[in-house]
Amino acid sequence: MYFPEARPRRLRKNETLRRMVRETSLSVDDLILPLFVTFGKNKKKEISSMPGHYQLSVDNLAREAKEIYDLGIPAVILFGIPEHKDELGTEAYNAKGIVQQAIREIKNRVPDLLVITDVCLCEFTSHGHCGFVEKGEVDNDQTIDLLAREALSHAKAGADMVAPSDMMDGRVGAIREALDEEGFDQIPIMSYAAKYASAFYGPFREAAESTPQFGDRRSYQMDPANCDEAIREAQLDIEEGADIIMVKPALPYLDVIRRIREEFDHPVAAYNVSGEYAMTKAAEKMGWIDGEKVMMETLLCIKRAGADIILTYFAKEAARVLTK
Ligand code: PBG
Repeated sequence: MYFPEARPRRLRKNETLRRMVRETSLSVDDLILPLFVTFGKNKKKEISSMPGHYQLSVDNLAREAKEIYDLGIPAVILFGIPEHKDELGTEAYNAKGIVQQAIREIKNRVPDLLVITDVCLCEFTSHGHCGFVEKGEVDNDQTIDLLAREALSHAKAGADMVAPSDMMDGRVGAIREALDEEGFDQIPIMSYAAKYASAFYGPFREAAESTPQFGDRRSYQMDPANCDEAIREAQLDIEEGADIIMVKPALPYLDVIRRIREEFDHPVAAYNVSGEYAMTKAAEKMGWIDGEKVMMETLLCIKRAGADIILTYFAKEAARVLTK
């Protein structure tokens, strides 16, 4: 059937009809909010490139967690800024480290808010790389031992889920084994399976104070030109025990999200990263776009591409719109 018999506009006539034929929906249940926790007391330092986001000390974070829970957001993902950094990132796996303190405090105050931890070393190492550096290179196999220790210490502190974001080979298997050995076989792993070496992480590195002090992350994070490789990465992570697989960033990588969705039947998460957030906020501030509409369209389209879960700095704002 062709025009004039075929008239697709018939189904767009009014909101009721549009609502009935809508293929994708966005819910507050889909959202995870990233949070930055820092040392000290009563600290709330705004991240200049991420308006509305702060480095919070543990006391303020716990208060924030209650507000997040009351908005209906199911989960947060924690990033830590330690007081001291060193070559080995020891604060990452210190039982009294900043993230471990934050987990305990949130679980204490708001037990039903799911606490996910980012498992990586870059926020904790003096050189800012995501692993153990030897002769100017990140050594894979020594790094995965440290990551397994970090994940285990998060689980011991009460984390509900761990999310390795380092992109070392074999880290999901190493973490699964370490968790299982200590009786944490019920703690799921959300792996950053296809994480690209992206310029869109710029504002995050200000927030987490994790800019590499030499070189870049291209020897471990993926080349933006590749998509078949994302399938191989996701396959390996699933074989090693990943429960949820993530694609990151989201917007320039919607095709990767779609392919991963089609190839696997695991839940798929997408990370709507700091640069994506910052661009929207900046354009909104300039008066060039309607920030709220762009936010809702962005999140909906990430779902349409195939994501089940979205990690996003928009979570609170979106939750307010969704529950209006
Ligand atoms: C840690 C990590 C990064 C992000 C999440 N986990 C930074 C990086 O890899 O440099 C980026 C998140 C964002 O930009 O919002 N490795």
